[in-house]
Amino acid sequence: MAAHGNSIWSKHQIFEKHSYWLMLGILVMISIGGLVEIAPLFYLKSTIEKVEGMRPYSPLELAGRSIYLREGCYNCHSQMIRPLRDEVERYGHYSLAAESMYDRPFQWGSKRTGPDLARVGGKYSDIWQLEHLNNPRAVVPASIMPSYPWLAKTRLNAKHIADDMRVQQILGVPYTDDMIEKAQEDLKTQGTTDADADGLLKRYPKAQVRDFDGNVAEITEADALIAYLQMLGALVDFKLYDNQANVR
Ligand code: HEC
Repeated sequence: MAAHGNSIWSKHQIFEKHSYWLMLGILVMISIGGLVEIAPLFYLKSTIEKVEGMRPYSPLELAGRSIYLREGCYNCHSQMIRPLRDEVERYGHYSLAAESMYDRPFQWGSKRTGPDLARVGGKYSDIWQLEHLNNPRAVVPASIMPSYPWLAKTRLNAKHIADDMRVQQILGVPYTDDMIEKAQEDLKTQGTTDADADGLLKRYPKAQVRDFDGNVAEITEADALIAYLQMLGALVDFKLYDNQANVR
């Protein structure tokens, strides 16, 4: 202890003797480490590579997504295929960051009581999805998924869809004012078989346009939810992606 009081190292005693200073010191050091690791993610372009095909949700898909959140589907279903062999063989190409870039909040999930849904789009017919929502046991006898029979019986309340899109726009989803203005129109068009969908498809390429629930009289919550399920993972063409032709 010869250096006591006069070496610069003795200043360290302040941390060793006072736990509050020690805690503050730890906080400062961890913050620097955190900043170095996290801050670049916000400006490095490579964090989310641009992937052709990704676009914001159409109004009907967005409404379906809200029902997915409302009903708590995320409590049992993830939407992120991890880059592990068993997952890729079961669910398809692993999820890309860009595929959830317009998800606010994201739906990666942390629980899989049921299977991952990131690429469930196109896996089943609309009728299968409808019957499965009405009563999962009708199509998967051993299923423990709850029934959601009210979805097909409830007219979709889309009053707030333009407001929903406005909020997403504020959060950074690139909805244009034109898209928001035409929200009601686009929503109805997408849920109607044989509708003139040119404008909709220009705004939302690859949007699937039809009556999804077999009830042409009105657009129901089942229409919206099935429209959402049928587009999950269906926007990016992975044949192009795997050839590296589409990555920029
Ligand atoms: C209590 C847990 C639970 C909840 C909540 C739940 N599911 Fe499921 N889901 C399951 C299970 C288990 C399966 C697998 C058996 C089956 O196909 O029914 C499944 C299967 C599915 C499948 C078929 C997936 C595939 O690849 O075969 C879809 C689609 C689906 N659920 C959608 C939904 C939607 C939409 C909601 C919300 C309205 C929902 N689930 C809520 C447990 C759940």
